[in-house]
Amino acid sequence: MTRPASKTPISYRQHFVRRSGVILVIIVVLAIFLWESGKPWYHSDNFKDKRCRHMDPIEPPDLSKLSPLRRERFERVRDSIAHAWKGYADAVSLNSTKGGGVIPADNLTPISKSRNGAATMNWLYYGATLHDAIDTLYLANLTVEYNEAVDILTRYDIQTTSIQATKTFEYSLRILGGLLGAYSLSGEPRLFASAQNAADSLLQGPFQASPSITPRPFNVLAPSSSSWDWKTIIQRFYKFLYIVGRNHFTSEHKYNSLAGFGSFGLEFSFLSTISGEQRYRKTADVIFQHVKKYEHNGIVPERWNVLTGTPESMHGSLGSGSDSFYEYLIKVPIFDGCYYDEGMEMYSDECTLVGKDHLELYQKMLRDSLRSDHVKRQSISGPGGTEFVFPTEFGTRYDHLLCFLPGLLALAAHTQGGNNKDDDMALARDLLDGCHQLYTVAASGLSADTGRFQSKTFVPIDSSYYLRPEFVESLFVLYRFTKDETLQDAGWEVFESLESHCKIPGGGYAGLKDVNNPSAGYVDDMPSYFIAETLKYLLLLFGPDDYISLDDFVFTTEGHPLRKIKRKNKIYRSHFVSFCLDHQLRCLGRCYFLEPWYLLLSEDPSI
Ligand SMILES: *[C@@H]1O[C@H](CO)[C@@H](O)[C@H](O)[C@H]1NC(C)=O
Ligand SMILES: *[C@@H]1O[C@H](CO)[C@@H](O)[C@H](O)[C@H]1NC(C)=O
Repeated sequence: MTRPASKTPISYRQHFVRRSGVILVIIVVLAIFLWESGKPWYHSDNFKDKRCRHMDPIEPPDLSKLSPLRRERFERVRDSIAHAWKGYADAVSLNSTKGGGVIPADNLTPISKSRNGAATMNWLYYGATLHDAIDTLYLANLTVEYNEAVDILTRYDIQTTSIQATKTFEYSLRILGGLLGAYSLSGEPRLFASAQNAADSLLQGPFQASPSITPRPFNVLAPSSSSWDWKTIIQRFYKFLYIVGRNHFTSEHKYNSLAGFGSFGLEFSFLSTISGEQRYRKTADVIFQHVKKYEHNGIVPERWNVLTGTPESMHGSLGSGSDSFYEYLIKVPIFDGCYYDEGMEMYSDECTLVGKDHLELYQKMLRDSLRSDHVKRQSISGPGGTEFVFPTEFGTRYDHLLCFLPGLLALAAHTQGGNNKDDDMALARDLLDGCHQLYTVAASGLSADTGRFQSKTFVPIDSSYYLRPEFVESLFVLYRFTKDETLQDAGWEVFESLESHCKIPGGGYAGLKDVNNPSAGYVDDMPSYFIAETLKYLLLLFGPDDYISLDDFVFTTEGHPLRKIKRKNKIYRSHFVSFCLDHQLRCLGRCYFLEPWYLLLSEDPSI
């Protein structure tokens, strides 16, 4: 009798060996993955060898010296900030967020009520409004709201745990910018830690994938916190996949705009100044130098191929695809204290090569091409039928976004000085009046988003109003330079229009579908820039003249005020002795007071 060959035990054994081998590999991979991804970032070890950070908090404004009218206006805007914030905070249930590190929604949609009662929209997947609004809450002295927001923002690393790909540039200007703005006002070290975490994950994610031109949508995941809920586990797994696959992602995301990859310089310069680590600034410089090579006749192309790092065409613009790039040509040098004195025909001592290149490109791209391409003089029907000067794209198309131009021109004129200063200031004022006119002619008192000029009329292309900030931003900047109170009145008109047409009972504000027919309905969205910029600039317009002075701060393209470095020679060594004592993030070991950090320390010798 032949027994069947005794396969079974061996087969079992092989099977067992094979299976345990597979399990072992899985365990090892899992262990490595968990080990790598589970490292907490929010841990004092991360601050080893980093310098102590101390920045004096900005005090709330002293309203007692304001006229009663101005004070009332300031307080009314503050109430509106509270109202807008309440709408958002209620809708995203910030309280429940505290429990599990859940990332709150990006925008409030103040009109709609979805089934679970929430009224929110996600597009960035990183709690855009929460980050964007925080420095405005601080400036409005809304202490309770501010503290709650900081608590949520810094308790978990929600800046880097979304499993969704995000828009790199929007992430930088809203998430990173928001944290830096709030840090720059409050000196709260936890905010800087969160900001640095966000910036590092930008450098490790999108910038690593493509250093000269960053992809538009990308993941910015970083090691997540050490809690072990299902969400965290998914996030870790996703990050693992991301590390494996990130170099393949870019083929899906072929194009980016000039503004989209070329406007990191200001936030990154600030980060480098505070941290003393040059990698942020250098990253932005690499992009700038790359782009500069393609300038031709004052035009830098707008649309670029991420994979090849080259422009798609030589077409340039001033509007949404390029605007912040233009802005940073002047704001990055201002932040560094670099300017060109036309009288003396020389650059200030603070100018680096990169700073000079920025200013030169600003001259070529904006000053020299401005009058022909972006300024239209024309009368439109309305009170008096007077001629106005409008900011336009290629002489024909008005875009509300272009109302940032008066503020930018004024800033440049004021900081660069020289022979053209008065001309530039006059042009800035004319353009501002043009924007104002488009607010005035609309029935709602708010400007259409885009339009064109035909004979003596302005014909809207998109007649909606999206709660945009550019006009009040320019009002604020020109007011600060000229102290012309009619600009405050113009701002107050905008504010009253917002109150009568856009305010939603119970909380939040909504845009308008048709500025000439306010009853045509709302645009069901409160973008995060509404609190970050529109309401902030209105608040500062009515606040004390020296509250967040343009001499001491540079505003990012998203309206976040970054404190400028102080001149070295004003600071004495004895002033920075014992800063390591307070704050949760104590320095481990020795305290360092090396350049450039100490430049930011207070000049008050009593500290
Ligand atoms: C700011 O808020 C705090 C706390 O709510 C309050 O005590 C203080 O008086 C406020 N300061 C100003 C100038 O409004
Ligand atoms: C959130 O919690 C705080 C106390 O932790 C409470 O005072 C506040 O009313 C709560 N807000 C909401 C919207 O439930």
